[in-house]
Amino acid sequence: MKTDGAAQSAPFTGRKRSLIEDARRDRDRERDRASSSASPGPSLSSDSFVFEEEKSAKVTINLLFALKNEKNAGFFKAGKVFETFEAKLLHLESRPGRRSKNSPSDDLEFFMKCEVHSSDIEIFINSLKRVADDVRIAQDEKVPWFPRKISDLDKCNHLITKYDPDLDQDHPGFSDPEYRKRRAQISELAFNFKHGDPLPYVEYTPEEVATWREVYRTLTAIYSSHACRQFLEGLQQLERECGYGEDKIPQLRDVSAFLKDRTGFQLRPVAGLLSARDFLASLAFRVFQCTQYIRHSSAPMHSPEPDCCHELLGHIPMLTDREFAQFSQEIGLASLGASDEDIEKLSTLYWFTVEFGLCKQNGAVKAYGAGLLSSYGELLYALSNEPEYKPFNPVETAVQPYQDQTFQPVYFVSQSFEDAKNKMRQYSSTIQKPFSIRYDPYTCCIEVLDNPCKIQNVLGQMREELKILHSALERLGQC
Ligand SMILES: [Fe+2]
Repeated sequence: MKTDGAAQSAPFTGRKRSLIEDARRDRDRERDRASSSASPGPSLSSDSFVFEEEKSAKVTINLLFALKNEKNAGFFKAGKVFETFEAKLLHLESRPGRRSKNSPSDDLEFFMKCEVHSSDIEIFINSLKRVADDVRIAQDEKVPWFPRKISDLDKCNHLITKYDPDLDQDHPGFSDPEYRKRRAQISELAFNFKHGDPLPYVEYTPEEVATWREVYRTLTAIYSSHACRQFLEGLQQLERECGYGEDKIPQLRDVSAFLKDRTGFQLRPVAGLLSARDFLASLAFRVFQCTQYIRHSSAPMHSPEPDCCHELLGHIPMLTDREFAQFSQEIGLASLGASDEDIEKLSTLYWFTVEFGLCKQNGAVKAYGAGLLSSYGELLYALSNEPEYKPFNPVETAVQPYQDQTFQPVYFVSQSFEDAKNKMRQYSSTIQKPFSIRYDPYTCCIEVLDNPCKIQNVLGQMREELKILHSALERLGQC
């Protein structure tokens, strides 16, 4: 999510918005919060995890505690605590206390899974401690909230507004009230959008189309020598079948329908820059968050924030490619429930691949990153002899310092998207999470594989798929 550019070879000295900076800020904020809230809470066990729900929502927790088995008094008192806090019991197990294996009439230990209001957890646990012994809650691996179904993306709308023309004095549209008003009108369409609504239609003005035309002409003049094969093929398809051209700014609804047919990706209008976590989460559902307003006419080759030129020219052609679409979704899936630290690393990976990635094709290095393909100046620079190239290696790439004041000193080169996808998948498996997830394309939902039954069900579906493939090979006489 970055735009910049200059139709000259001198390095551009403006700024670029990156997901990485946003992710870093979230991580630091979380660290501050954690250090300031360190207090003696319930003792922790590491054999389970808690999904962090939205504010004011309920959370599921696992509890272990021991009760004296004297006339069941402790049991009834514990029950009263559950009743008081309206804790919904989801699972219950009991066993003789460890100190009483030979004395079944002694203490009992309980394991309970229950749902409780998130704001009540602390007082609920303290109340339980008054009537039970050795109270422990599995809370040490708290999982940040993430969307489970595609309509949950309606909640992924945390905007970073500091680069809006209303707030950023360096924005080319800052001193143009008409531009700011127009941008706000188009952003309002995205603010009001909910999953399932038709994508907003924008009637672009002649001035806006003129800006688009200049960007389109300038960039397409060098695509054939600088862009990768997949990008060129995607752009040709878009020009042939989706109304792409210099005389008209494509509508998101047309582009979204086109992408859906090819790779299952669809667009969603966004009012501006999203937080890194929200933006990456949408990729898990094959949803690309897309701005609809256009940059200021006074600076057609530069925008400090993403605009429709960056999205439609930089990103969309690549999203017509199946391997690239899969690669993008892999990053999104890896981000779900990840720690703030891992979100920062994934944002860096996104930066050096989806935004500034290069790949080898027929012995030559070509661009596939949207930040490059929407920036004339940096596209020329990236494929010159000036920058350093490194092979794409997620472990190294994830911690590579990035440059948001000028062009990148280092670019990462992938052997192919399939190779990048496999490496990304391998990297994702190393991200510490206490659960595995799977995207269900039939329901557009994220399934948390947290019990053997769910895994068996998925395996069953895969066996059926394999049978179909095996049968298809038999029909072709291939096995
Ligand atoms: Fe972008």
